[in-house]
Amino acid sequence: MNRIKQIASHLNPITNTQPSGDIGLIGLAVMGQNLILNAADHGFTVVAYNRTVSKVDHFIENEAKGKSIIGAKSIQELVDNLKRPRRIILLVKAGAAVDAFIEQLLPYLEKDDIIIDGGNSHYPDSNRRYEELKSKGIHFVGSGVSGGEEGARYGPSLMPGGAEEAWPHIKDIFQSIAAKSDGEPCCDWVGPAGAGHYVKMVHNGIEYGDMQLISEAYDILKRIGGFTNKEIGDVFAQWNKGVLDSFLIEITRDILYYNDPADGTPLLEKILDSAGQKGTGKWTAINALDLGTPVTLIGEAVFARCLSSIKDERVAASKILPGPEITKDAVTDRKQFVDDLEQALYASKIISYAQGFMLIREAAKEYGWKLNNPAIALMWRGGCIIRSVFLAEITAAYRENPDLENLLFNKFFSDAITKAQSGWRSTIALTTKYGIPTPAFSTALSFYDGYRSAKLPANLLQAQRDYFGAHTFKVLPEFASETLPKDQYIHINWTGRGGDVSATTYDA
Ligand code: 6PG
Repeated sequence: MNRIKQIASHLNPITNTQPSGDIGLIGLAVMGQNLILNAADHGFTVVAYNRTVSKVDHFIENEAKGKSIIGAKSIQELVDNLKRPRRIILLVKAGAAVDAFIEQLLPYLEKDDIIIDGGNSHYPDSNRRYEELKSKGIHFVGSGVSGGEEGARYGPSLMPGGAEEAWPHIKDIFQSIAAKSDGEPCCDWVGPAGAGHYVKMVHNGIEYGDMQLISEAYDILKRIGGFTNKEIGDVFAQWNKGVLDSFLIEITRDILYYNDPADGTPLLEKILDSAGQKGTGKWTAINALDLGTPVTLIGEAVFARCLSSIKDERVAASKILPGPEITKDAVTDRKQFVDDLEQALYASKIISYAQGFMLIREAAKEYGWKLNNPAIALMWRGGCIIRSVFLAEITAAYRENPDLENLLFNKFFSDAITKAQSGWRSTIALTTKYGIPTPAFSTALSFYDGYRSAKLPANLLQAQRDYFGAHTFKVLPEFASETLPKDQYIHINWTGRGGDVSATTYDA
C-alpha cells in the first residue's frame, strides 16, 4: 500500500484532520462524567459518547464546556476521533450492556485497538471477553475503578488487568488520573485476563468486611456502652487519628454527627436496618468457597447483610426469643471499654486483610496468574473505599517480601495482633455475655485461634467420616505403624459390622 493512502486512512473522514482524541469513554453516568473531567484536567483529550445522545449534548454544553472534551453522537464518530491505537473505556452497567457495546464497537476497530471495561464486572466475564477479543486482535483490559463519584473526579484507585500489550498505551493516562499515595499512583498493572476485576472483587469483599466491623463497633458502643450518637462520633473521630485512620472511619464519624434538619435528632436512627447489596461481596465469598480458602470474615459480612434484610422475621423473633439483659453497670471503665474495642477492630481488620490476600494468593495459583501483591496493596492505599493508613503497612510488608505466605507472618502485623489480643478477647467476652451479635469480630478471633492451632479437632471429623461412610483417613506420622501405615489412606472397621471396602478418596 502506498504511504499517502495509509496516512489518508488515518484521517478523521468527517473533518479530514488527524484525530485528536487520546481516549474515548462510553457511558455518561456519574462515574463516566467525572472520569472524563479528571482526564481532561490532566491534559488528555477525551471523546465522550452515550447511548442517549441528548446526554452527550447536555454534558458538552455544561460540565465539559471549555475543556478538551469532544462529544460523539455515534459509535463511528467516537472511533473516528481517536488516535491509534484507539483506547476506549466502557463505564456502563456490568453484564449484557458491556457485551452489547463491545459488539457495536468491533466493526469500527482495528488490530491492536484497546477496549477497557471500567465497570464492576464479574471476573469470569472479563476472562471470557479477554479471550474473545484476543482472537480478533483487540486488546481487552478489565479495570477495577474504586472511589465513587469523588474518586472518579479527583483520583480513583484503578486496578487494570488483561492484555498486557495494552499497558504501555494506557499507563500514562491511568497513572495520571489515579489517586496518589506519598506521590505514587494508586494504579499499576495487576495481571492477565480477568485479574483486574478479580482484585476489584476482593477489594469490594474487604469493603463489606470493614463496613460490617464498623457497624458492629457502633452497635456495641450504643447498646452495651449506652453512648449517644455524638459520643460515638467522638470515638470514631479519635480512632481516625490512630491506627484505624481510614476513609470508612471518617465517613462513619460524619454520619454519626449528622442530625436530621427537620427535628435535630440523629438521622442514622431513622434509617431502616436492612442492608442492600449488589453482589460483589457475595462473589468474593463464593469464590473463597470454590478455592477452599477460609475467608470467613467476608462470608460473615455478606450473611450479616442477609440476616439484616429479614427484618419482619427478626421483629417477630425479638418478641419470643429471650437474651440477657444489658445492665447499667455493663461498662464500668468507659476508657478501657473504648480502647479494647479499638484493639478488637484493629485485630479483626488485620485478619480480614490477611484472609483477602490469602484468597488472592490462591487465585494466582489456581488461575496461573502472576499477581503483584505490593502493587495491589498500593492501589488500595489511596482513592478507593477501603483506603487507609493501614494499607501503607501492608504495602511495606509485601515490598519487604512479595511472596509473603501470610500477612500474619510479617513482624509488624504479628506484633500488632499480639498487642491487640487482650482487648479483642475482652470485647467479644462482653458482647457474648450481653447478647450483642458480632459475627465479624467473632469470626476473626475464631480464625485467629484456628490458624495458630498446630492441632485442630479435624482428627475426630475424619474418624466420623470413616465410621459412617468408609471415607478413610491418614495417621499422624509419629503414630505410623504396620497396622497404621504412614501416608496412606486407611479405613478401619470401627464396629466390626461394616465391611472393609473403603470409599473413593477425593476432595471436592
Ligand atoms: C467502590 C465501591 C463500589 C460498590 C459500592 C456498592 O469501590 O467504589 O466498591 O464499586 O459498587 O460500594 O456496593 P454494594 O451495593 O454491594 O454495597
